[in-house]
Amino acid sequence: MSDKLRVAVLGATGIVGQRFVARLSRHPWFELEGVYASDEKTGLRYREAVKWIIDEHPDDSIMERYLQRINIDQIARERYDLVFSALPSNVANSIEVELAKRGVKIVSNASPLRLEQDIPLINPEVNGDHIKLLHAQTKRGWKGWIAKVPNCSTAILTLALKPLHQAYGISRVIVVTMQAVSGAGLKGVPSPLIIDNIIPYIKGEEEKIVQESRKILGSFNGQAIMPASFDVLEFTTRVPVIDGHTEAVFIELKKSPRSKEDVIKLLEEYHDNKIATLRLPSAPNRPVVVRREVDRPQPRLDRMAGNGMSVTVGRLSVNGKMVKMIVLGHNTIRGAAGNGVLIGELAYKLNLL
Ligand SMILES: NC(=O)c1ccc[n+]([C@@H]2O[C@H](COP(=O)([O-])OP(=O)(O)OC[C@H]3O[C@@H](n4cnc5c(N)ncnc54)[C@H](OP(=O)(O)O)[C@@H]3O)[C@@H](O)[C@H]2O)c1
Repeated sequence: MSDKLRVAVLGATGIVGQRFVARLSRHPWFELEGVYASDEKTGLRYREAVKWIIDEHPDDSIMERYLQRINIDQIARERYDLVFSALPSNVANSIEVELAKRGVKIVSNASPLRLEQDIPLINPEVNGDHIKLLHAQTKRGWKGWIAKVPNCSTAILTLALKPLHQAYGISRVIVVTMQAVSGAGLKGVPSPLIIDNIIPYIKGEEEKIVQESRKILGSFNGQAIMPASFDVLEFTTRVPVIDGHTEAVFIELKKSPRSKEDVIKLLEEYHDNKIATLRLPSAPNRPVVVRREVDRPQPRLDRMAGNGMSVTVGRLSVNGKMVKMIVLGHNTIRGAAGNGVLIGELAYKLNLL
C-alpha cells in the first residue's frame, strides 16, 4: 500500500483532464486513483475512452483504469485526499458544491465561484497566502473546501505583473491576448473557423481577466481580500496556435523604474520566498523567464519553459512609468492543470489535506 495521498480527476478525458492525468502520473506525493468523465464513457477503460491529444503521457497503469460516473455519494465514500476538477463550467458548480458539503476537498478549474469572497483564486507564486481563505468556507457549512485555479490568460498575466506591482505599483494594464485553440477544450473551436483566421472575441474571457487580475493581485489581511484598484483595458482573441497563450501587455506604473535592466532583473529574480522554501515539485525554478532576442517569446519555442509552469517575457521596453512586453505561457499547464497540481502541493504542505 502506497503512502502517497489518494487523488482523483473529474473530467479526466478533456484537454485539462489529460494534463492532470499526465502530471499526476508518477507524482512524488499524489497517487491518481480515480478517473471520472461523463455518463457516456462510464465503464470504459481510460485508454478506450480518451482521445489523447497532448504531448505528455501517463503511465500505462493509468490508461488501464476504468472511467467512473460522477456520483456524489460514491466520491464522498472514497475519501480521496484531494479531487482535481476539470469539468465544464456549466456542470461543475453543482457537483463541486455538493462534494464540498460532503467533506471533499477540491481544486477546480471551472469559472463559477472564482470571485466569491471566501473562495481563494490561487496562482501560488503570486498569491499563495490567499489559500488561508479556505478556512472561511466552514461558515458555509462545508466539511470540505473548494480552491479555484484562475482563468488561463489571467494566471499567465498575473505572474508577469506581480513583480512590477510589488516594486512600483500598477495603475493601469492594457492587454491584448492571442489565445490558443486548446483553451476552448476538446470540442472547442471548429477547424474551418480558426485555420487561416483570428477570432477577435472570446465569450466571457475579457470580464475574467479584469476581475480575476484584481482579485489575485489584491491584498489579503488574513480574513478578506481587498482587490487591487488598477484599471484593465483588454481584448481577447483566438488564434490558430495549438497550445500557449501570447499576450501583448502595456503597464502603467505608479513609480518609474530606473532602467530597463532593473525591470529585467526584477522579473528574472522574482520568486515567492514561502513557495521556494516549501520545495513544491511542480514549482519552476524561475516563475518568470526573460528572453532578450527580438523575436521571442514564441508559442512553439517557449510554452514549455519551466516544464510549462514558467511564463516567458520578451520585447520588454521601459519609457518613464510605461512598461510594455509580450508575455507567453502554457494555457493548459500554468493556466490550468499544472497550476491545479501546484495548488494541491501547496495545500498538502500547509496541512490543509
Ligand atoms: N482548456 C484550457 O486551456 C482551460 C484553461 C483554464 C481553465 N479551463 C477550464 O477547465 C475546465 C475543463 O476544460 P477543458 O478544456 O479540459 O474541457 P473539455 O476538453 O471539453 O473536457 C471536459 C471534460 O468534462 C467531462 N464532462 C463533460 N460533461 C460532463 C458531465 N455532464 N458530467 C461529467 N463529466 C462531464 C468530459 O467528459 P467526456 O469525455 O465523457 O465528455 C471531459 O472529460 C473548464 O471548466 C474550462 O473552462 C480550461
